[in-house]
Amino acid sequence: MKVLEFENVSKRFCNQQGILQVLDHVSFSVQEGEIVAIVGPSGAGKSTILNLISKLITPSEGKVIVNGNIGYMFQRDCLFEWKNIYQNVLLGLEIQKNKTQENKSRVERMLKEYGLWEFKDAYPNQLSGGMRQRVALIRTLAVHPDILLLDEPFAALDYQTKLKVSEDIYKIIQKENKTTIIVTHDVSEAISLADKIIILSSRPAQVKGIFPIVIDAPTPLKKRQHQEFQRYFESIWEVIQNE
Ligand SMILES: Nc1ncnc2c1ncn2[C@@H]1O[C@H](COP(=O)(O)OP(=O)(O)OP(=O)(O)O)[C@@H](O)[C@H]1O
Ligand SMILES: [Mg+2]
Repeated sequence: MKVLEFENVSKRFCNQQGILQVLDHVSFSVQEGEIVAIVGPSGAGKSTILNLISKLITPSEGKVIVNGNIGYMFQRDCLFEWKNIYQNVLLGLEIQKNKTQENKSRVERMLKEYGLWEFKDAYPNQLSGGMRQRVALIRTLAVHPDILLLDEPFAALDYQTKLKVSEDIYKIIQKENKTTIIVTHDVSEAISLADKIIILSSRPAQVKGIFPIVIDAPTPLKKRQHQEFQRYFESIWEVIQNE
């Protein structure tokens, strides 16, 4: 089932310099349960696409069709430093006035399962970058979204931590069985995580190519080691270079 569709979406912003065209007739769709990576250079319009999906902004032209609730993990983890981990992960539910026992139990289960339970009374500045990312993800999942939007979730991490946290986050997404749209400018990361990759040009972003990825391996690290990985990398790199 299709849960998301962009039909010829264009977006322009007005700023002091005049009109800035950010998206130029962007079309793609996402099926239920799919992990889709959006790859493009800095400033192309990737976060703008997520902002359109979450209805924070509206398109200038074209149509954005969304079936389901959205959970949005922003480009920065946006944890509140003056709240402890437990209060941080419950924040979304609090805003929705939906802190039922059932929802609280689900959040507690995720904290335990993802190695954060002993830190529930700690404050964000006492956690490593990777742990903060997991807290932000659990907070996003707490509100039971149908579609998960992750904006460069690993960008602030060093290389080793990034590989480790992407293993963790992939496991969590699989286990919670969420349709996921993940923004990155790292092609390898996209191939290791996604079922489908959408390549954007530089601004104004157009869709340069859409690649289904099928690598028969259970985790992002194992996919990186698979022989198919290099083949995907080469064909995607060719599209990126031919800008
Ligand atoms: N609300 C807004 N008003 C005006 N301009 C905006 C707005 N949001 C984004 N822009 C501009 O649109 C362009 C694309 O921004 P966007 O954040 O979508 O890029 P991005 O691909 O996510 O970049 P990055 O990889 O650096 O995060 C940028 O030039 C940005 O300054
Ligand atoms: Mg961005």
